[in-house]
Amino acid sequence: MRPVQASDALLEIDGLTTHFFTREGTVRAVDGVSLTVPAGKTVCVVGESGCGKSVTARSVLGLVDEPGRVVAGEIWWRRDGQAPVDLARYGPKSEEMRRVRGGEISMVFQEPMASLSPMYTVGAQLVEAIRLHMPLDREQARERAADLLRRVGIPRPEERLDAYSFQLSGGMCQRVMIAIALAAGPALLIADEPTTALDVTTQARIIDLIHELQAETGMSVLFITHDLGVVAEIADEVVVMYLGTVVERGGVDEIFHDPKHPYTRALLGSIPRMGAGTGQRLATIRGNVPHPSDRPSGCPFHPRCGDAVAGLCDRSDPPDVRVGPGRTARCVLHENADLIGDDGQLGAEEVQR
Ligand SMILES: Nc1ncnc2c1ncn2[C@@H]1O[C@H](COP(=O)(O)OP(=O)(O)OP(=O)(O)O)[C@@H](O)[C@H]1O
Ligand code: SF4
Ligand SMILES: [Mg+2]
Repeated sequence: MRPVQASDALLEIDGLTTHFFTREGTVRAVDGVSLTVPAGKTVCVVGESGCGKSVTARSVLGLVDEPGRVVAGEIWWRRDGQAPVDLARYGPKSEEMRRVRGGEISMVFQEPMASLSPMYTVGAQLVEAIRLHMPLDREQARERAADLLRRVGIPRPEERLDAYSFQLSGGMCQRVMIAIALAAGPALLIADEPTTALDVTTQARIIDLIHELQAETGMSVLFITHDLGVVAEIADEVVVMYLGTVVERGGVDEIFHDPKHPYTRALLGSIPRMGAGTGQRLATIRGNVPHPSDRPSGCPFHPRCGDAVAGLCDRSDPPDVRVGPGRTARCVLHENADLIGDDGQLGAEEVQR
């Protein structure tokens, strides 16, 4: 055991490496990810499809699918001022991990249908989750279940309690999953694309609910999303992932107004501007994210990067560099001051690892 570096870090992931050992070879889905979730804060993880966001989240709770395995790294979890424990050292089925999953950390999965049992009504599943954590009788738990469904925006919640997941739409299941995750009163909610299937009004309601619970209970949130509009609304801090690595981390205002990494700039350049005329084409990042088993040499972003320096970026993988208080970027432009352009962003100091 060791003390967590930042005194307010509830979760600190350090050098997480999760690989899939497939017949075709090793897939380096997550390759040395470090990030911190401070108590009471919301950290958003962004990045294109296939960058390792879900695998990172699932690694925290020992829920990586076969043939995947956490092969290196530490996942320090600290609750209520207790000594930190390294979740990476707990077996996925260990009692300790079950305790953490049972109430300390809740997860909303990207595939809500697959996460709900078709064998039981959603009410039965929600009541069970509530009774695991609160000394309520069945009737009181059912009342609380209906209240939670109402809070996630499900109309006629009493009736819906008796429905099975296959009778509900994807968006409805997603809201039931969110209600189940919140029923435990977790210290940390990990939400993997929790609002993608929802209409804008319901999405806003879920985000308000998360804010309310944070104010009530001090819950922290690790929120994975493609939607940079949602990030701007809810994030305190942002982690940008590319091809299994973190390429930039920082406060939400810094990331949006002064992004340091070319990939972050490209992601931000691909969102529609407020007030842009309809019919205006959305800029996209050229090319696609390569598969992890086809990782380019040097900086993994170099084949798509408009700032790539020939002979340098295709050869060496840049280290994580501190580019400001609480900010890191993984780009050679910040590693070597001589290469920085006229934008005045000098003085990078290598992160002590
Ligand atoms: N069971 C598996 N076997 C082999 N490779 C896997 C498996 N699950 C995930 N991967 C690979 O791990 C990489 C990261 O996947 P992950 O699901 O974490 O991406 P993501 O960032 O969550 O993408 P999305 O935005 O589409 O949800 C991908 O290249 C994916 O193909
Ligand atoms: S290291 Fe080079 S290729 Fe990679 S993001 Fe920076 S400038 Fe682009
Ligand atoms: Mg995902």
